[in-house]
Amino acid sequence: MSDRTLVLIKPDAVERRLVGEIISRLERKGLSIIAADFRKLDRDTAERHYAEHAGKSFFPELVDFITRSPLLALVVEGPTGTWQVVRNVMGATDPAQAAPGTIRGDLSCKLTENLIHGSDSSSSAKREIALFFPQLAD
Ligand code: RTP
Ligand code: MG
Repeated sequence: MSDRTLVLIKPDAVERRLVGEIISRLERKGLSIIAADFRKLDRDTAERHYAEHAGKSFFPELVDFITRSPLLALVVEGPTGTWQVVRNVMGATDPAQAAPGTIRGDLSCKLTENLIHGSDSSSSAKREIALFFPQLAD
């Protein structure tokens, strides 16, 4: 059975011209891009996307970062549990700790500029796809 998850190629990755590199790694893993939207996020959408972090000390900085310049939102399709496959390809949240061979481990060393977002569960994937691509919500 196929499964879908949300990926954001974050503003730092676009600024650093790493979009192709990141898409290439997802595709080489065997995943498919089935929707894409290049846009600058507004604060309301950013705050809703990261609602689980509202109230934390780093929340304002996180919203500033994700809205500072355009990002590429993707819906990625693969086998059941695709969100987990994407998380493995991404690497740990802190690039300084992320394993070599992962996107964050190879291409970043800064927690606040870690290049890529991936949904962290099936329910997050469903919620986030509905937020970014309402036409694909099930
Ligand atoms: P993301 O949601 O962006 O895919 O990242 P994640 O699941 O790996 O990490 P999460 O815990 O959801 O944190 C969201 C983003 O917040 C930033 N962060 N800053 N200053 C801090 O202590 C701190 N902790 C997290 C990170 O950039 C992380 O991607
Ligand atoms: Mg997260």
